[in-house]
Amino acid sequence: METVVINDVGPRDGLQNDPTAVSPDDRVRLINALVAAGLPAVEVVSFVSPKAVPKMAGADQVVAQLDLDAADFSALIPNMKGYELAKASGIRSVGVVLSATETMNQKNINMSLDKTISVCRDIVTQAKADGLTPRAYVSVAVECPYEGLVPDSQIESLAEIMFAAGAAEVIVADTIGGANPAQIKALFTRLVTAFGANVLSAHFHDTRALALANAWQALECGIRKFDASISGLGGCPFAPGAAGNLATEDLVSLLHQAGFHTGIDSKALVDVVDLAAELVQHNVGGRSLAWQRNQLAKTDSKGVAA
Ligand code: HMG
Ligand code: MG
Repeated sequence: METVVINDVGPRDGLQNDPTAVSPDDRVRLINALVAAGLPAVEVVSFVSPKAVPKMAGADQVVAQLDLDAADFSALIPNMKGYELAKASGIRSVGVVLSATETMNQKNINMSLDKTISVCRDIVTQAKADGLTPRAYVSVAVECPYEGLVPDSQIESLAEIMFAAGAAEVIVADTIGGANPAQIKALFTRLVTAFGANVLSAHFHDTRALALANAWQALECGIRKFDASISGLGGCPFAPGAAGNLATEDLVSLLHQAGFHTGIDSKALVDVVDLAAELVQHNVGGRSLAWQRNQLAKTDSKGVAA
């Protein structure tokens, strides 16, 4: 069985944009529940300005309560101040965020594209020197809400810059869920040829209900690492029109049905969906959730472990 690694970004991407503010203690509950369900990696916080993203305040309090050996925990950071805060928290993996267009960088982190490249390069270099694992998001990889379609060549050259600086992984992100599988095939074929599949990861939003189809296409291109968000929570506050992320439970359901190993317990994951709903105080959940609950009820009633 081939293994696919899922990094749950719900505690960060999921909660940053939700109307409900979730306390650091409850964010820790969510993260621990994800780990208990078998998630090997979780993006737990972002070290960003609390004025820009109030829902991520208290990132250091979240990290302080985690068993850092329990999973591959990471934090998103926009600038050197965020890096210093992340390092001081003890987290071992950081992700810089580099959007592929001028306007998206301005709107997201108030920096030009050139400045963002230079800041990301410095952070990746520093993190590597400090013994942390540096990752790099390349955002608006297919379509930017401000500048429209983004050429694949631009994503390749930004990824190249991040790898040259020492990034262990580039996460290719369809921030507004604007991509279709044909575009994903072209983009990932190009990137896999240039860098190899094992240093790439894919991050899909589900605005047009194409996230799962896009994930399958990326998988066909050889990608074996994906971001997904419990219950499909998520969205960037600075990318208008972006909906939630690909739901972790939908991706796990697809992968298990197709014969891939994830190490994730589907039944426990459905319980985490319930916890997420309790914390954000509204009903959420992936497209496959009703079917999954039905399957679990059937196996439970037969006394068979799900
Ligand atoms: P700015 O106003 O230009 O920054 O914002 P500044 O340097 O002038 O600082 C302003 C204030 O913020 C100062 O505090 C700084 O100390 C503080 P004050 O003196 O006013 O009290 N500050 C910070 N505080 C905590 N952590 C920091 C930090 N930096 C400065 N790191 C800034 C620039 C980058 C700070 C701001 O725009 C920001 O925080 N942006 C974050 C945006 C964000 O979180 N977006 C969502 C994440 S990206 C995403 O979701 C996409 C992704 O999922 C992939 C995809 O789907 O594409 C990853
Ligand atoms: Mg995102």
